[in-house]
Amino acid sequence: MSTVDNTSLKLTKENEQAADFLPLLGTDHVELYVGNAKQAAYYYMAAWGFQPLAYAGLETGLKDKVSYVLQQDKIRLVLTSPLKPGGEINRHVNSHGDGVKAIALWVDNASKSYEETTKRGAESYLKPTTVKDEHGEVVLSGIHTYGETVHIFVERSKYSGPFMPGYIKWDPYYRAEPVGLKYIDHMVGNVGWNEMNKWCDFYARVMGFAQLISFDDKDISTEYTALMSKVMSNGNGRIKFPINEPAEGRKKSQIEEYIEFYNGAGVQHIAVATDNIIETVTSLKKRGVEFLTVPAIYYEDVLDRVGEIDEDLAPLKELGILIDRDDEGYLLQIFTKPILDRPTMFIEIIQRKGAKSFGKGNFKALFESIEREQASRGTL
Ligand code: FE2
Repeated sequence: MSTVDNTSLKLTKENEQAADFLPLLGTDHVELYVGNAKQAAYYYMAAWGFQPLAYAGLETGLKDKVSYVLQQDKIRLVLTSPLKPGGEINRHVNSHGDGVKAIALWVDNASKSYEETTKRGAESYLKPTTVKDEHGEVVLSGIHTYGETVHIFVERSKYSGPFMPGYIKWDPYYRAEPVGLKYIDHMVGNVGWNEMNKWCDFYARVMGFAQLISFDDKDISTEYTALMSKVMSNGNGRIKFPINEPAEGRKKSQIEEYIEFYNGAGVQHIAVATDNIIETVTSLKKRGVEFLTVPAIYYEDVLDRVGEIDEDLAPLKELGILIDRDDEGYLLQIFTKPILDRPTMFIEIIQRKGAKSFGKGNFKALFESIEREQASRGTL
């Protein structure tokens, strides 16, 4: 397997300028629309070590929906369910199953973020809106991106409450030990046939992102299936959105399977960073999280490919953790099986030891593993 050609990973001038009109401080939170937020919240606490943070529902004056907010270090998840028939959230869940509705970005100025992006062609989702309570105020605005996914801009410098106005502190007696998840490293979107360039162009033109790297179907193909991918990043590199589209292969691409079951474009995976992937994955496995496996043969020549690493190979092999290297260092990564009934979203755990890339050297081994799962679902 080839190593990553890293020359395109340096941020371009164009990329640095992006910070001028849309400075992004980081990912504020990710909101999922789910069928049963109460039980989903328990899953993310018990299996993934998230801590309860905030709540909004009937008790806070909402009539038709409920949201639980969970946090682990810098990662915040919002799980939202409808309380009555009909309405937008039900329609979303009916169409897509549980999935990511909003990737919320933390900004200094939500009104300016809205102006700058809509001026450049973004479709409005939420006009700048100020919400207040006794802890201060938050300004929110939003634009549409691929599928029914949206970006919310969150300006929270004048707010000191647990999450945002409308939410109260959520303090159940149950607490699960965190598993060492630190921050969102990247979030990947799957889009339809021939739509990758359209959406990469959207991130470039509307949000000022630049392309970090691209992979074509020669990089990402197995004997049977293929996909193409480009990684878009904002100016300071804190936000990275790879965009995938299916490519022609002898059998059905995993991206096509996703699009079919999600009923359109959407978030394929959230990659979360840890400082100790062996400990994190050991904890997750104990709590029942299921990961893709690679054949033992992967580990026979992996060190020839990636060179010396700090970790012992034995626990990596035991846990099925993959290794890749680029010009700047190496990375360790592992992918869960889909975490929902529909074969749609999954989670990646990544530990970067200098590497800024995405594990290209692992694609083939990984996709052969995904194909084995697809075959078992009868969707290959
Ligand atoms: Fe990834």
